Amino acid sequence: MNVHQSLTASGPLKSFSPPDSVPAKVPAKADAMVRFEGVEKTYPAYRGKPSVRALQNIDFAIPRGSITGVIGRSGAGKSSLVRLINGLEKPTIGRVEVDGRDISALSGRDLRLAQRSIGMIFQHFNLLSSRTAAANIALPLEIAGWSKTDIAVRVAELLDLVDIADKHDRYPSELSGGQKQRIGIARALATRPSVLLSDEATSALDPQTTRSILDLLANINRELGVTIVLITHEMSVARQLAKEVIVIDGGDIVENGHVADIFTHPQHPITQTFLAEVLGDAVPVSLASRLQQNPFPAGQAVIRILVRGDAGDAIVARLAREFSIDVALLSARIDEIGGQRVGSLTIGIPGGDAIAPQVLSYLSQHQLSAERLGYVA
Ligand SMILES: Nc1ncnc2c1ncn2[C@@H]1O[C@H](COP(=O)(O)OP(=O)(O)O)[C@@H](O)[C@H]1O
Ligand SMILES: [Mg+2]
Repeated sequence: MNVHQSLTASGPLKSFSPPDSVPAKVPAKADAMVRFEGVEKTYPAYRGKPSVRALQNIDFAIPRGSITGVIGRSGAGKSSLVRLINGLEKPTIGRVEVDGRDISALSGRDLRLAQRSIGMIFQHFNLLSSRTAAANIALPLEIAGWSKTDIAVRVAELLDLVDIADKHDRYPSELSGGQKQRIGIARALATRPSVLLSDEATSALDPQTTRSILDLLANINRELGVTIVLITHEMSVARQLAKEVIVIDGGDIVENGHVADIFTHPQHPITQTFLAEVLGDAVPVSLASRLQQNPFPAGQAVIRILVRGDAGDAIVARLAREFSIDVALLSARIDEIGGQRVGSLTIGIPGGDAIAPQVLSYLSQHQLSAERLGYVA
């Protein structure tokens, strides 16, 4: 399945192919749109509540023009990270640069000017219910002091860009979630920002609407070159759009790299959890219910292998040949992530634990991540 195929039909921004892949290295200073250097964020104690350290030792760089996913569970520190990027919060320690400027050092008018080049969209859209779609989109332009005529032209352009030109005079209450988010996107892009921050922007939407919004964001990235930082607690969202992924947990970056690498070589337990969420357990319920913890000689060891690209090709046949055994294929799932084939195979190795350890070390020698799930009769 190609998750990048647009669900919507025709139009200037509708056809979409995945953006060129961005190398997973940390970009040179000049190539970075957003840079964190040794950032810690601690919220001070307040009204009897203790202080909270939301982020620590945060170092990363987001390449100009990329789509980078920031993934973590609730409370991981994602929104704090976003608010540091747009200058709504200051780091307790360290430095945050956006487009080469130290945003943490700005305040007042300088900060407000810098914030015009940083658009933001939200889970609950944050539209003004008393304003029409057009008037919501116009708001940042009014604040920036644009003339009425210029605003009208720009708003029409933006409504067209997000493909809801016919909703010009509609109020938020008359619009679907997807349409409201399109207005949110148009408003965020009004002042032609170089970065678009998306904080759980699809979390309130159904899967199909989520996909159409992610497609729109991909098109905006490609056509306008806007760098997108996609904050989400859903790996499925990150992998549909992002090429680079930063995984945070408990205020730490626990993984950072190309989305396909992270999917196939998850290092951290939290990433493994995210991976399972996307790939499913790849263990059919009927098999899961029969899994036992202890080996027995007549049983099969159940091994799950994560595969990437063509690394897993013919692995069942290779194992059968290498160990002269019958390998049972118990379940398989292959998908496409970051332009690479990724998936998992669950196999049964006969002889309880007689051969399984050698199979696991063979797989690891061939750079295939694998784990023993248990045993079945
Ligand atoms: N304004 C704030 N004041 C105090 N603590 C906060 C504030 N914002 C977030 N936190 C705390 O910081 C931690 C990270 O929160 P947040 O950045 O919102 O994470 P996420 O967006 O990943 O759910 C949590 O423990 C949260 O309670
Ligand atoms: Mg949040």
